[in-house]
Amino acid sequence: KRVLSVASEAVPLIKTGGLADVAGALPAALKGQGWEMRVMIPAYRGILKKLKSPKPVWESESLYGGPARLVLGKAGGIEVLALQADHLFDRDGGPYSQDGRDYPDNAERFAALSFVAAEIAREGAGKWQPDLVHCHDWQTGLVPWYLRGTGIPTVMTIHNIAFQGRFGRDKLAALGLQSWDFSREGVEFWGDISTLKAGLVAASAITTVSPRYADELMRGEFGMGLEGVIQARAGDLHGILNGIDLDVWNPETDPEVTSFSAAKPGGKSKNRKALEAEFDLDVPGPLAILISRLTPQKGIDLLAPALGPYLESGGGLAVLGSGDGWAEDAMRDLAARHPGRVGVKIGYDEALSHRMYAGGDAVLVPSRFEPCGLTQLYGLRYGCLPVVSAVGGLADTVVGATPATEAAGASTGIVFHPVDDLALRQALMKLIALYADRKGWAAMQRRAMKTDWGWDGSAARYAALYDALLAR
Ligand code: ADP
Ligand code: GLC
Repeated sequence: KRVLSVASEAVPLIKTGGLADVAGALPAALKGQGWEMRVMIPAYRGILKKLKSPKPVWESESLYGGPARLVLGKAGGIEVLALQADHLFDRDGGPYSQDGRDYPDNAERFAALSFVAAEIAREGAGKWQPDLVHCHDWQTGLVPWYLRGTGIPTVMTIHNIAFQGRFGRDKLAALGLQSWDFSREGVEFWGDISTLKAGLVAASAITTVSPRYADELMRGEFGMGLEGVIQARAGDLHGILNGIDLDVWNPETDPEVTSFSAAKPGGKSKNRKALEAEFDLDVPGPLAILISRLTPQKGIDLLAPALGPYLESGGGLAVLGSGDGWAEDAMRDLAARHPGRVGVKIGYDEALSHRMYAGGDAVLVPSRFEPCGLTQLYGLRYGCLPVVSAVGGLADTVVGATPATEAAGASTGIVFHPVDDLALRQALMKLIALYADRKGWAAMQRRAMKTDWGWDGSAARYAALYDALLAR
């Protein structure tokens, strides 16, 4: 059984967030379930050079005004179909934007990806044709729409509903859509086109990356205007938690860190010392970390007003992130105001992130919404206990410390709500108190490190969904 997964990013080739981790991990996870998955992504600059045994399997003289071909190759054990169309994808900036500005032709760029994916689903390429297509986020929302009426099953996964692929009606023809597609039952959304909505309407099934987020999406507070569309498809909506790669994220074998484990936690304190040195910190109490895109979703603005009492009580914070200018400035400002207690590195650094999970005592995730979230899962595995808001996948994966969960020996972190600075401040003070109870803290760390967030369970759920769709 074959499935084509279409995404705008995938580890190990290109990553801006958790979507890439998930798109890169699914093929191996599904292999164990009897599904052969190939991943189609755009060949952004430098991607083709990273492919092993590249081989062209499809080409077109003109795709949105330039030549295009599909190159099959291998990367990190996954079979990749890279869509080379240099006029669309070979650019100086990131996958979606340059210097903070979206590319003006993003509609066309990702319609091109979706168009070719639909074509491969219908016709096959290189003697390979999928039985089913799995699409991720707005960039690929047009795939199910293009495949309507073909009988080819499609799954549309929502990783983040804040990104909706909204473009003006004037792009209709450019996206290969007809005037009658522009309707309430179709791609129209508040007077614009939404490629995500197109996918939600047309896909055979919809999934999102945690059960809680699936529920939240049907409410105005989280649905971002698409709640009605999702409610109408409630019967076809599934919340399936993301997993993590247990080989890459393994504190016992991680080449970046001094080895430790639930059974032998000793190495953790060495990692913490190294981390303090790396960030120029001297922290008597707990050392929290934050690794994140710096955007309003992630509750970054809550930090400054919440940190005061925590820092005064001996806590420290190391931040690694990049994103919105105001948020980067706010982080630099925090570090400047609290030398030795708050350290900040602006940028993207995968290796450093490993050292931070290993050296940190707690990972802060004060998100306003979080479809799944991966940093809390890496934190659990590295005994870096999550301090999270009670939303989406955060609520689904962390057992917050309360007198009851502690008595039951079940807590694995701190969960707070509502998502505001006051609740975060209290959560941080709870961190001070829990950390001070060294025995209790060690027990909680052990528990967290033993929880299993590998892909097996979730892969089985995807496979069951695929099978059900094939049998329809
Ligand atoms: P999102 O996809 O919304 O950004 P996730 O928690 O699902 O959130 O995934 C974020 C991923 O990106 C995690 O693997 C996290 O470790 C990583 N990450 C985020 N910011 C950075 C950074 N500045 N440097 C290194 N890794 C980062
Ligand atoms: C999105 C979400 C994040 C999720 C990731 C992978 O980027 O913001 O919560 O973990 O996708 O599904």
